[in-house]
Amino acid sequence: MPGLVIVGAQWGDEGKGKVVDLLAEQADLVIRFQGGNNAGHTIVRDGETFKFHLIPSGILYPGKLCAIGNGVVVDPKVLTAEIDELRRRRIDTSGLRISANAHLIMPYHKLLDQEGEAKLGKLQIGTTRRGIGPCYADKASRLGIRMQDLLDEKILRKKIYAALEPKRSMLRPYAKEPELDLHTMTEEYRILGHRLETHIADTAPIAWRVEDEGGLVLFEGAQGTLLDIDHGTYPFVTSSNVVAGSACAGAGVGPRSIDEVWGIAKAYTTRVGAGPFPTELEDSLGESIREAGREFGTTTGRPRRTGWLDLVALRYATRVNGLTGLVVTKLDVLTGIDQLQVAVRYLGPEGARFDEYPYHQSILHRAHGDYVQLPGWHEDLSGARSLEDLPANARAYLDYISDFLGIPVVMTGVGPGRDEMIWTGAAERLRPAAA
Ligand code: GDP
Ligand code: IMO
Ligand code: MG
Repeated sequence: MPGLVIVGAQWGDEGKGKVVDLLAEQADLVIRFQGGNNAGHTIVRDGETFKFHLIPSGILYPGKLCAIGNGVVVDPKVLTAEIDELRRRRIDTSGLRISANAHLIMPYHKLLDQEGEAKLGKLQIGTTRRGIGPCYADKASRLGIRMQDLLDEKILRKKIYAALEPKRSMLRPYAKEPELDLHTMTEEYRILGHRLETHIADTAPIAWRVEDEGGLVLFEGAQGTLLDIDHGTYPFVTSSNVVAGSACAGAGVGPRSIDEVWGIAKAYTTRVGAGPFPTELEDSLGESIREAGREFGTTTGRPRRTGWLDLVALRYATRVNGLTGLVVTKLDVLTGIDQLQVAVRYLGPEGARFDEYPYHQSILHRAHGDYVQLPGWHEDLSGARSLEDLPANARAYLDYISDFLGIPVVMTGVGPGRDEMIWTGAAERLRPAAA
């Protein structure tokens, strides 16, 4: 299997970091292809927690080639801090490569993100305020500044000037911010560029080479399908294409480089930020799932909204990504709930029924789940390492999901730790000998 894409199948935070870390042992290259440091990917190794915002989740294997692809937007301050932190923890970062074509998040992008949200008032998206949207907007406007520009001070200054000019009126409230001064900004970014220089590379040919040598490329997605700018719950979405098809453009490979696409989904649903959420639980059960699953944002610390598993949205995600397998994480979190519910269709006003994910925003905003009840379990799952170790009702829950979606469940998470994972038939060939 030369190319495997890992994407979030819900609204993000499904456990992509953990899955990528597990699969990375067998991979020859791990490459991020979209998003930026709005992402927060957690890995728990031997009780030690690592949180990655930009660096691919394969970096814990010494020397592993880990690339930040051209489709990613990079805040060089966050990236250098992340590298420093890893070095402090004695993690080898020599395998890190950053695409020279990746766009940079600038100080004004962060300010514009804040301003944009403040102006929206009650209609806020609830962005991570990391400058993601304004950076992708500049990329599309051809006013972006790229990694390669950091290496030439003259070009850098000219490009910053050109990018700042059209924003002057919007940035007026911040006119006195020292970080917006052209000279200060150019100098700060030049120094950051100098620090990152050894990692800057042409990343697409790295992927081609691995492919030519018969190696495995792991494409690490960020966010989740329903946050995709085209296919998600627009405008309550992020500013990039999150779906599997985006891996090609964001890494520089063709569709034939991709053999499998695995979607990651929690055994229930969460969402951070505003926007429709048809299976949301706004009661004490939702609160107890939040506590049991420690559902607080990796990047912003915000409490995540929680709800039942939404199979309508998951079937849609299966289709738009062309999923060949599903990883169900956090099955352990559902332990102790007598009756579980899964949404198999949506109900709208006046008895309307939607078997498929509705494209219309106003329908989605008013829809709620029509549920099938499935019996729960009370046994502790954390020690389970094979499907046979699971209680019959937990196995039946997974079977129901797999049958509904028409794809196999390839892995199931039973705890945050690296080893707390069940590998099933389809994933066995990627399972490291030690697992
Ligand atoms: P990502 O953004 O998709 O990588 O996910 P996050 O790291 O933001 O959030 C997932 C959270 O769930 C992290 O705290 C993980 O350590 C944790 N996690 C992942 N898989 C499991 C699991 O199977 N069980 C439990 N209890 N926690 C898990
Ligand atoms: P990972 O990779 C969950 C959400 C924000 C907000 C919307 C737009 O860890 O799964 P943005 O800052 O991107 O303009 O915010 O998208 N969001 C995420 N939610 N997980 C993420 O990443 C997210 N990245 C962005 O909360 O609703
Ligand atoms: Mg996350």
